[in-house]
Amino acid sequence: MTLSFDCLDARRSTPSRQLAGPGPDDAALLRMLVSAVRVPDHGKRVPFRFLRIAGAARAELGALLVDRALQRDPDASEAVLDKDRKRFTHAPVVIAVIARLGPDDKIPESERASSASCVCFALLQAAQAAGFGAQWLTGWPAYDPVVLGRLGLAEDERITGFVHIGTPQIEAPERERPDPRALLSDWVAA
Ligand SMILES: Cc1cc2nc3c(=O)[nH]c(=O)nc-3n(C[C@H](O)[C@H](O)[C@H](O)COP(=O)(O)O)c2cc1C
Repeated sequence: MTLSFDCLDARRSTPSRQLAGPGPDDAALLRMLVSAVRVPDHGKRVPFRFLRIAGAARAELGALLVDRALQRDPDASEAVLDKDRKRFTHAPVVIAVIARLGPDDKIPESERASSASCVCFALLQAAQAAGFGAQWLTGWPAYDPVVLGRLGLAEDERITGFVHIGTPQIEAPERERPDPRALLSDWVAA
């Protein structure tokens, strides 16, 4: 078995606005999730779950966001509201990665949240390996208690990310990456 640097180094996000259909069907999505759940997980707690937002549910969520945005700011501009209305309608499939962070005697919450973050990254990789484009987004809906309630999250659950998945309409733009040589140092005993 060889793991290719080419595959790892080719990863980049495709902006959600540039993702269109077709998206992954059930089989393709489940195949991606098989890879996405292979994350380091201290204590094997499986501190994550998935919620799919697809089809008509995307616009319904957009309408809900507009209502909530107006509650938060009755003077919100039409441009702001339009962004919220369309937030989930570009990509055909959005997977909310939900961290499950209930009380735990042994494993710190931050470590369990880290595992859920790894899932988002692994899902980005898997989507690209399957020929799709993807982007990990949050934004205010990921932190708004009313929205979280409407998405069915429990008190001890958090949105780690909305992973938007679809067919790229453009070749995703590359951006400058950090130079690891500038980030690496050696510890030496004083
Ligand atoms: C936790 C997290 C939340 C993010 N939320 C947003 C967001 O709400 N909006 C946004 O434009 N990018 C967001 N990003 C950044 C994109 O996922 C992505 O990294 C960016 O488009 C650069 O692309 P790249 O993955 O090719 O570096 C977020 C990234 C992380 C890790």
